[in-house]
Amino acid sequence: MDLSISSKDRLIFALDVPDRQEAKKYVSLLVGTVGCFKIGLELFIKEGPDILKIVKENSSASIFLDLKLHDIPVTVSSALQSAAAHGVRFITVHGSDGESILRTAREVKGSGLEVLAVTVLTSISESDLLRLGYKESFSLNQLVLDRAGLAEKSGCAGIVCSGKEVAMIKRTYGVGFKAIVPGIRPVWGEVKKDDQSRIVTPKSAISNGADFIVVGRPIRDAKEPAVAAAKIIDEIESALGA
Ligand code: C5P
Repeated sequence: MDLSISSKDRLIFALDVPDRQEAKKYVSLLVGTVGCFKIGLELFIKEGPDILKIVKENSSASIFLDLKLHDIPVTVSSALQSAAAHGVRFITVHGSDGESILRTAREVKGSGLEVLAVTVLTSISESDLLRLGYKESFSLNQLVLDRAGLAEKSGCAGIVCSGKEVAMIKRTYGVGFKAIVPGIRPVWGEVKKDDQSRIVTPKSAISNGADFIVVGRPIRDAKEPAVAAAKIIDEIESALGA
């Protein structure tokens, strides 16, 4: 784990809201508290790249464009060039389709854009994989590990995985290979109709080696989002022994 990253910068808030008005509200509420805002499909499809301005004009936080690109190499490569021109820090590609797609990460090296491979979505469980045709003998951990290995070998800056696999990934691929962990559930923050499966607390994710954690609903749906974010930062600090 890179110990030079501040606790605030380790917290990425998922701006999973329907439109720019809501986005602006959460950026204003959390501007002093979180180090990065993640813009995903809902907001990007609704508002287009113009939505990036809401973060840029109202904060100095970095931006994670979580579009989980999944296409042929030439298309992913062009999409990464377009994203690099937007001045965002992170972008995601799916890690399931092999080296030729993951290698496109090399083409934007030096642009400031860091490409992260999504290993296995945190909403997927082992029984989901069985239903998808994976064999009984198959291990979800091994799949995550193999995909992380391919991402590392191909030149990605890091991966997105659950807090259940992060220690294993850090042990295998080293501290310099970034691990971003969603599926974060503080013990105090219940999420209604939760679709996440492989969940951990903020403290456990950081203790196990996550460089960054992604938190959406536990902050977004809290009575006081900034208070919830501050509580999560306290947990990050306690995990770091600060
Ligand atoms: O609301 P919640 O904390 O579950 O939000 C998690 C965020 O992280 C969502 O924006 C989701 O798209 C994203 N994410 C994830 N699992 C991955 C990659 C990204 O949950 N493997």
